[in-house]
Amino acid sequence: MPAQRLLFAVSGASGMPLAAYVLENLRTLAELEIHLLISNMARTVLASEGVSNLENLAHVLHAADDLAAAPASGSWQSLGMIVCPCSMASLAAIATGLGHNLIHRAADCMLKERRPLVLVPRETPLNRVHLTNMLAAHDAGAILMPFMPAFYTGSSDLKLLAREFTGRLLDQFGVQHSLCTRWQGKHPVNSL
Ligand SMILES: Cc1cc2nc3c(=O)[nH]c(=O)nc-3n(C[C@H](O)[C@H](O)[C@H](O)COP(=O)(O)O)c2cc1C
Repeated sequence: MPAQRLLFAVSGASGMPLAAYVLENLRTLAELEIHLLISNMARTVLASEGVSNLENLAHVLHAADDLAAAPASGSWQSLGMIVCPCSMASLAAIATGLGHNLIHRAADCMLKERRPLVLVPRETPLNRVHLTNMLAAHDAGAILMPFMPAFYTGSSDLKLLAREFTGRLLDQFGVQHSLCTRWQGKHPVNSL
């Protein structure tokens, strides 16, 4: 089966180590072809947070200001798109349909083509504008998935939490994987 494209966008919010770990986990799935977008501000935050060589984790890197790149068209086929981390500025642009860079335009295409668009917003505390934009994005079809680890897995190691989170992200795209633990119930009953 040919590899399936997954678009992964990194915008300029805090959380670059998480983005790097998620990308590393995505790369363990041979059936995925990872297309990466990095916003201009994301490059600044990557440097601030000491994360380098993110590009090496992608199969294909697109320039974030290239509005003529393939993912700028709804005719470009993919499983969908993840924006991780998603800044409040990118969230606002996506929620209001602005296509000023390739991240916003590609997200717009995902929504119009009804492909999964998963946003991993990062800001705290959230003001009314943030919340309103999240609701608008949700109503347009986006999946809002902040990084909120399940602490019942017993882990507090970011690498392991990111692995779990990658699994939960992949669930949104219907990709089979064994990256996350699944709650079996407190008193599982053996089935035949
Ligand atoms: C070190 C650093 C950390 C930042 N963290 C956040 C953040 O967590 N959330 C956020 O919404 N913006 C954050 N910003 C501000 C964004 O980078 C800024 O709003 C920018 O316009 C986002 O542009 P982009 O979405 O095109 O990447 C941060 C900026 C810097 C320099």
